[in-house]
Amino acid sequence: MSGPTQDPHFLPEPYAASRAAGPVRLVPAGSGDRPGYLVTGYAEAREALGDARLSKDTAAFFSGKESRRRLHPAVAQTMLASDPPRHTRLRKLVTKAFTTGAVAELRPFIARVTDELLDQWRVGEPFDFVAGLAVPLPVTVICELLGVPEGDRSDVQRWSAELFAAGRPDVIDTASHAVAEYMTGLIAAKRRDPGGSLLDRLVSARDGGDHLSEEELVSLAVLLLVAGHETTASALGNAVLALLQNPGALDRLRAHPDEIPAALDEFLRFDSSVSTATFRFTTEAVTLGSTTIPTGVPVLVALGAANRDPARFPAPDQLDLDRDAAAHLAFGHGIHRCVGAPLAKAELEIALRSVLRFPGVRLAHPPGELRWRRTRLIRGLESLPLLR
Ligand code: HEM
Repeated sequence: MSGPTQDPHFLPEPYAASRAAGPVRLVPAGSGDRPGYLVTGYAEAREALGDARLSKDTAAFFSGKESRRRLHPAVAQTMLASDPPRHTRLRKLVTKAFTTGAVAELRPFIARVTDELLDQWRVGEPFDFVAGLAVPLPVTVICELLGVPEGDRSDVQRWSAELFAAGRPDVIDTASHAVAEYMTGLIAAKRRDPGGSLLDRLVSARDGGDHLSEEELVSLAVLLLVAGHETTASALGNAVLALLQNPGALDRLRAHPDEIPAALDEFLRFDSSVSTATFRFTTEAVTLGSTTIPTGVPVLVALGAANRDPARFPAPDQLDLDRDAAAHLAFGHGIHRCVGAPLAKAELEIALRSVLRFPGVRLAHPPGELRWRRTRLIRGLESLPLLR
């Protein structure tokens, strides 16, 4: 089969080859230049994500030369890089503000932005789905959610993209300060002139008297932006590519668009945009499967590879809309499981519905010519030219 599994640009490696080397194994670069363990088996990955002995307190782990980075603390020490009890307190406040109702309210906005972006698509001309829709849609939606004024959105979009500048730490560090300073100003403006956005709700959130500190507020705002941007952008591109490479699924969902919500888990399983979960480390020796990982070692959970484990998902390299894929790990698992999953699914559903409305939609180039981004965290396309 041609397509994603054999793509040489997939990092860390093609799924099958990665698992063949063992479900848990030592790799040379777990974090920076430190060796670490890569987990590719589904059962082991799920176990690792649910194990409290694997810490996410990155600040406690890094020392020495790695601390020379100038990353803004609001970006470095987010909820995603923390353990209970700090994580529990912050997560509770976000969950309170990030209700299902808030996501439902955003649906008309998501649909309108999607339509406006697709209006740029001229008949007979290729439309880059990545640059034209997948990248701008999620960041516009998060800006709306956070109450970022329209005039500031292009700056926010640029900083968010720069925070993912793989291999360019200076660009990332500078963007982290720009975005943190911007969010600090935005929060101050919301205190003066409150509105109804999620950020306003966080500003006024109270958890049994346990208020959010200013730094925690800034950090949550930045995390929502960062965590929801490239992840969703790549998921949108991966899902459209999978759809266009599987004519059976394409015909079926075009004929029955009401089946799209139920199909989303399979798209997320089949080509997971978060290829490797964020970094964890062992606080004591931990045995995963038959491998014992010593104390103080980085552990990388390869979500994409785990989601293609044939022991959990038979014939994993096939997109099968009839399979029960709900247990996939594309949104992670355990206490850090994605807070934004319902929002990401709403965007995926609306975007897929919109693309399916073009009867002749197809890839502009053979799939083998598509270029994948070279980052370990994100699996996504650099561009996806479509014709209609
Ligand atoms: C398809 C799109 C998305 C995917 C695949 C995805 C995936 C993930 C994954 C795998 C994690 C856990 C990482 C780990 O444990 O190392 C996570 C956490 C998180 N995600 Fe998402 N995400 C997506 C969209 C979003 C959106 C739209 C938002 C918000 C606007 C968001 C906000 C978050 C936050 C705040 C966390 C941290 C949760 C915590 O630490 O408790 N994500 N996401």
